[in-house]
Amino acid sequence: MLTKTVPAGALLPLYGDPPLTLVSGEGCTVRAADGREYLDFTAGIAVNALGYASPVIRRAIDEALESGLIHTSNLYRTLPGEALAETLVSLAFPGGVFFCNSGAEANEAALKFARRWAGATHGDGRTGFIAFRGSFHGRLFGTLAATDRPNYREPFLPVMPGVEFAEVGDLDCVHTLLARGQTAAVLIEPLQGEGGIRPIDTAFLRGLRAACDEHGVLLVFDEVQCGLGRTGDAFAYEHSGVVPDILTLAKPLGGGFPLGAVVANHAVGATLQPGDHATTFGGGPFVSTVAHAVVRTVCAPDFLRSVREKGERLRAGLETLLDLDAVREVRGRGLMLGLALNEPAAPVVSSAREAGLLMVGAGPDVVRLVPPLIVSDAQIDQAVSLLRQSIRR
Ligand SMILES: Cc1ncc(COP(=O)(O)O)c(C=O)c1O
Repeated sequence: MLTKTVPAGALLPLYGDPPLTLVSGEGCTVRAADGREYLDFTAGIAVNALGYASPVIRRAIDEALESGLIHTSNLYRTLPGEALAETLVSLAFPGGVFFCNSGAEANEAALKFARRWAGATHGDGRTGFIAFRGSFHGRLFGTLAATDRPNYREPFLPVMPGVEFAEVGDLDCVHTLLARGQTAAVLIEPLQGEGGIRPIDTAFLRGLRAACDEHGVLLVFDEVQCGLGRTGDAFAYEHSGVVPDILTLAKPLGGGFPLGAVVANHAVGATLQPGDHATTFGGGPFVSTVAHAVVRTVCAPDFLRSVREKGERLRAGLETLLDLDAVREVRGRGLMLGLALNEPAAPVVSSAREAGLLMVGAGPDVVRLVPPLIVSDAQIDQAVSLLRQSIRR
């Protein structure tokens, strides 16, 4: 085990200067190279749904290694990916699944599938997309174009053309854009993550569904961060009753191994052909076996109930912080909560770390709380108390 701090000198300088070197973890805690333990409410940025050293994941890894097949490529059939796809479809909606390796790749594939569908269905040059203010869909050239962060985009222009942004809640604007007949799909996170933990109003999601149906446009839900149990439902959209045509998933899916997925309904799937899209690694037997164990665990009704209960406990705890001048609002659902501050989030994140609590911001003034979904009541209470100390400092 690596126990001393190693200079990060050979890594390209894309991540700033990491404040900690982590060497081990168990449950919801991680240990740093200096021996200090931290309560982890970052969970690998909403990835480690089952925490560290999960027995579920260990067992799945052992099972996955038995066949000796870690990777085979998609030139050959392997059964674990097919079984995982069946489970995802049965949890979401009838259709098919494409596996890739990250959230951005899942969204990138969704954009391609939408164009393919629009070409096959309308054949009138509808290649555009509508995305929303506050959105984050990834940093590849298509997904970057659909991400509402001009500063991420500008150094790399030109990105994919054809994306227009609407304000969340402004259905008139969406209708106006759709009426131009240039849109293949509308892309939205049902609960915005990086943009500040902002749940999207149910009435707006229903309005989007109706507008897409009216104009013959696909509705794509990006549940890379909010999907797979995080909000207390298998998928965050279930809360609204609105079903998308395409659903993208990633972060918790692979149990920490890189895996993304696109679930597309039959109408979309019917327009795809061999060669339209592909990836060497996507949905290999090893990662699919692990992911299947994760999905079966986090989408089990009792587990989802416990996420909702813990989410309520965390929310209630965070609401007790509203007496602090620095705290403005508690937002989110389940165990994807944000504490909106009247001041920058970064200093609070730093003092919380000093106090023993790991968190990450979501936008300039929101502290994001996305603990492992197995977090205990005692750990929730401890996090709230450490957060109070950190905001007071
Ligand atoms: C909603 C959403 N979509 C897409 C992405 C991009 O995922 P990845 O970093 O795996 O490419 C993220 C990452 O934070 C995300 O939160």
